Amino acid sequence: MGASSTNMRLLLICPFIAFLLLLPQLAAGKTRHYRFNIILQNVTRLCHTKSMVTVNGQYPGPRIVAREGDNLLIKVVNHVKTNISIHWHGVRQLRSGWADGPGYITQCPIQTGQSYVYNYTIVGQRGTLFWHAHFSWLRATVYGALVILPKRGNQLFPYPFPKPYKEIPIIFGEWFNVDSEAIISQALQTGAGPNVSDAYTINGLPGPLYNCSGAEDTFTLKVKAGETYLLRLINAALNDELFFSIANHSITVIEVDAVYVKPFETDIILITPGQTANVLLKTKPHFPNATFLMAARPYATGQGTFDNSTVAGILEYELPSIYSTKNGKFPLFKPTLPALNDTLFAANYSSKLRSLATAQYPAKVPQTVDMRFFFTIGLGTNPCPKNQTCQGPNGTKFAASINNISFLLPATALLQTHFYGKSNGVYTTDFPSYPLNPFNYTGAPPNNTGVTNGTKVVTLPFNASVEIVLQDTSILGAESHPFHLHGFNFFVVGQGFGNYDPHNDPTMFNLIDPVERNTVGVPSGGWVAIRFQADNPGVWLMHCHYDAHLSWGLRMAWVVQDGKFPNQKLPPPPADLPKC
Ligand code: C2O
Repeated sequence: MGASSTNMRLLLICPFIAFLLLLPQLAAGKTRHYRFNIILQNVTRLCHTKSMVTVNGQYPGPRIVAREGDNLLIKVVNHVKTNISIHWHGVRQLRSGWADGPGYITQCPIQTGQSYVYNYTIVGQRGTLFWHAHFSWLRATVYGALVILPKRGNQLFPYPFPKPYKEIPIIFGEWFNVDSEAIISQALQTGAGPNVSDAYTINGLPGPLYNCSGAEDTFTLKVKAGETYLLRLINAALNDELFFSIANHSITVIEVDAVYVKPFETDIILITPGQTANVLLKTKPHFPNATFLMAARPYATGQGTFDNSTVAGILEYELPSIYSTKNGKFPLFKPTLPALNDTLFAANYSSKLRSLATAQYPAKVPQTVDMRFFFTIGLGTNPCPKNQTCQGPNGTKFAASINNISFLLPATALLQTHFYGKSNGVYTTDFPSYPLNPFNYTGAPPNNTGVTNGTKVVTLPFNASVEIVLQDTSILGAESHPFHLHGFNFFVVGQGFGNYDPHNDPTMFNLIDPVERNTVGVPSGGWVAIRFQADNPGVWLMHCHYDAHLSWGLRMAWVVQDGKFPNQKLPPPPADLPKC
């Protein structure tokens, strides 16, 4: 008997050995190539046609599909007049910070006629994320789904839920009848709040509840009775948290921000800009003789105006053959959504989110903390320049800050500056760890609403475990802020209303199965505590995912130093990294 047939026999008797032989194939991912041409495209919604910046002329942009472990090479070629960069929102970018994308943080923007290849590998993540432009307000039109499938044939790590019949991305966006770049540049000029959107969209479509928006502008999900569908929900809206519900159907939440959660059933979900959620929709066992709306509208807590309209799509069951198409008129059911300011719903909903925390999918919550931060999050003002009149609060300009620092973007990229040790004159490392002038954060606001402007960062030693309490302030109105951290997932260990109490609140922290994610809503008039392990060297932006607040300076950056070992260091930049 030859050696090979002995091997064959071994494999047959011993599936475990067979499995071990297969392991290298499982671990080694594929390389996937994409090309993103940034081009102008005419798009019409609500009877308004505008020429807008898109990827490959698509709105929403192309879907990226990869498996856990795959290497992505995405060549972005800029054919438009404006600068651009693309961010792969939620991708950990382990030692690939050069591919993270925020303009002036990890790279200079890609200029007209230039290109850049984003090169990164997806490690230890599976589920739904998304990508979007990270320059000015271009993400209004430049965004798309990023789907990460589990490793192929991975029997050790299958889906921890029944395999769905079909998977459907549902991307929420915001439609502006006019150029959104004009909206933000005008707002920054006058100091006023930016004009609000004209519609919300599902997969780029506003749906039937708007004027001049018909069937061809409505997303319809055609389903079969008795099947389970996986909906990949993404909130790519600029400035609005959204409630979402499907009439007469409940859904099961199984994953958020590309991390599995303990499944729970709900009729309504809440999703902030920057958040994603995978939910299972079980269709009715039999044809229901009805059609159902799925709808989303905002959860809004601020004092400013907002787009209070409702986007809807249609859930349509496949007609059984015994029905003639003639009597195909069925009642249309509509979902009920919470009140626009239902903060109680928001608090209850977020308390349901828990990590799966199993042996296969552990919740690696830092149990001890090396560095603690207390950050106040809120609005403020900048004085009106001389010889100008401003339309912000009391003739000032709107601003926003963390610990009263409103972050100014530098003229060059922070990551290069850091990598080459040239921070002098670009940024300082004195970002305050706590408010320099403490006040009653959620009580009567102070008279002085002025912010300090600067490019300040916090330096973290490699692998430090970090705790941040994000405290909303009532300056110019308490408001929920969706906070996003680049380069890491964090654990949401606690939250509450009012001022954070450093003595009593930590005793209530969940260090067992807190939800792990990349974007969390800081409760309106409250606080949230998050923890993460700074195991990824680079420069990482943290900011409010409302683009209005981001533009006003509600952002800061962490500089995470290299570790001792070669595999703990950030490699040098790729040769085609854009120059400023
Ligand atoms: Cu989705 Cu810094 O952003």
